[in-house]
Amino acid sequence: MLILLVIGCVYAFVLNAQQNDFKFSEKNTWFETILAIKKSEKPGERPALEKKNHPDPYRVALWNFLRKNFNSEKDMLEMSWEERDNIWNFEDKGFSYQQLGRNYLAAFQTSCKERGVPADYRQHTFNNPEDIQKIRRQYITSRNKEYVILTPPVSDTPRINIPLLLGVRPNHPVLFKVPVTGRKPVGIKLLQVPKGCHYDEASGSLVGVVAQKGDYKFTIIAENALGKDSVTVILRVGDTISLTPPMGWSSWSCFGSDVTEKDIRQAADFIVKTGLINYGWSYINIDDCWMNRPSLNDPVFSIKDSLTTKFEAKEDLRKRLSRMRFNESELIGKVRDSAGNILSNKDFPDMKRLTDYIHSIGLKAGIYTSPGHVTCQNYIGSYGHELQDAIQFAKWGFDYLKYDWCGYSLLAADRSVANLKTPYQLMNNALKQVQRDIVYSICEYGWGDVWKWGAQVGGNLWRTTSDIRDTWASISEIGFSMHGKEAYAGPGRWNDPDQLVVGYVGWSKSPRPTYLSPNEQYTQMSLWALLSAPLFIGADLTRLDSFTVKLLSNAEVIAINQDTLGYQGSRMLAKEPVQVWKKKLSDGSFAIGIFNTGDDPVLYDLYFKEIGLQGNWSVRDVWRQKDIKTSGSLLKQRINRHGVLLLKLTPGQKII
Ligand code: GAL
Repeated sequence: MLILLVIGCVYAFVLNAQQNDFKFSEKNTWFETILAIKKSEKPGERPALEKKNHPDPYRVALWNFLRKNFNSEKDMLEMSWEERDNIWNFEDKGFSYQQLGRNYLAAFQTSCKERGVPADYRQHTFNNPEDIQKIRRQYITSRNKEYVILTPPVSDTPRINIPLLLGVRPNHPVLFKVPVTGRKPVGIKLLQVPKGCHYDEASGSLVGVVAQKGDYKFTIIAENALGKDSVTVILRVGDTISLTPPMGWSSWSCFGSDVTEKDIRQAADFIVKTGLINYGWSYINIDDCWMNRPSLNDPVFSIKDSLTTKFEAKEDLRKRLSRMRFNESELIGKVRDSAGNILSNKDFPDMKRLTDYIHSIGLKAGIYTSPGHVTCQNYIGSYGHELQDAIQFAKWGFDYLKYDWCGYSLLAADRSVANLKTPYQLMNNALKQVQRDIVYSICEYGWGDVWKWGAQVGGNLWRTTSDIRDTWASISEIGFSMHGKEAYAGPGRWNDPDQLVVGYVGWSKSPRPTYLSPNEQYTQMSLWALLSAPLFIGADLTRLDSFTVKLLSNAEVIAINQDTLGYQGSRMLAKEPVQVWKKKLSDGSFAIGIFNTGDDPVLYDLYFKEIGLQGNWSVRDVWRQKDIKTSGSLLKQRINRHGVLLLKLTPGQKII
């Protein structure tokens, strides 16, 4: 039995001495304390603090403990634990508490170093509550200074923010919201609407069906008492969809495995309430955990085909599940009906009703599954039911599918490209048979250089790395490592560096503010725009503050991402700590990002010819939506720590 006694400060615990590996006293560090808590649990026992339905009680106990004792809102310390995520590896490799402890300590120390916490803090970090307060003050205070809203107030005159190229397959439903800003009421008119389509006032969308392949040009006019805007758009009816990077929201980084239908509805409602809908954000994606978990007696484990017999998936899975030690009877449920149709769990009582609701406001709906027996969180996957699931997803009305490798590891002999392709090709064949456009998102963490073959197996986007976290290390590593992959991206096929970890995130029922500093958030949004990356907001949309709303609703930044050429920007210069990235745009201009990856601000001189731009250029600061005075061939600017200057360069000098 573990006895926890709080003596005057949050982590001076007295624990009885049944633990062999650690001596517990006031001097214990918090990670040792956590290990003791873990160790004291009997196999199969669920810790008191566990959140309902979570597969890993240890992880939950750790997180709850940390949140309670070391994290107030806006605190940054928890990340040291999440950053390396070593607990997962240990589950698979077997347990060594000492090793686990060493890893956590190493992760924590790296984290301190990265944030510039002085070394002696590292030694004394958790000796008393004042130390924690000191660290909080140091970070929160310096970070708060960075909270500068750059996006100017939205103009009252109308502006249409629809991508100028839309893709749909012949005879499949068309649904494209017309996003418009400006003081209401704004009247919207469409001219030369493609035959078979019309503008639906209720959802504010272009809807219908077009049978013939081809490019259909039409005009949208938005007008209010103060002015009007008009754009010409091409509806391309053909084999390729997702002609500009998909934009929307996903449940994973905020709610993790605690997601419910209510969260999804609220996400849709808040896309509207916050006005984000007027900037083109459109997919509302349910990630993992909308289905039930199978029991080990489930028929899926009796499928005997070349894969199962070869790799004894059931045995492997049994081991994996027994290590997770969750209470099976509470968490498993009926995964398919008698005809084999996949069922949603009790938190998602009616999928069709949900997608109808999402569509009624002009938004689109996304769903998630795995090619394996189970998903990453051990919910039922699509193995052996690929076509049936694709049909069900289409029937329910989903417009997007994330197909996440995860449980399929038990079925693949190795990570050869041929083996990596197999399950994705299979689902692609299934998706081709449904009468609905379903954007196909491949998630296998970049293995086998997926960018080289993702499009061959029908992918519209593919994750280039493992999961993103809301740390500078994570976003900078994932974002800047996109250099060299630009040749593989283009309309209908995008490299996916994962979600925007801004606002309130947390992979749980209790999202907390992102650990990214404001500058780092500007960096992520700017880099993702230059990379033509899919934009999926990972935040809890019900808790967006004005900083985050403005970060996500800068029409000029989004227009760079949604440019119809679909080029992925390239790194043109790397002069420590500065990197300069460039993206060619369809109007003959270039988007340029000057990133400061260092810990201090820099004054930087950019000679345009160094990045292949001869002659004179007019320069616009895209975040501030303001033209900048330059010599025409050189720009001198200060760039914040971990910050960015996002520019648009147009040929010819404009003297301001
Ligand atoms: C991971 C995936 C994440 C999320 C998670 C759900 O494999 O990379 O983005 O989908 O599974 O369990």
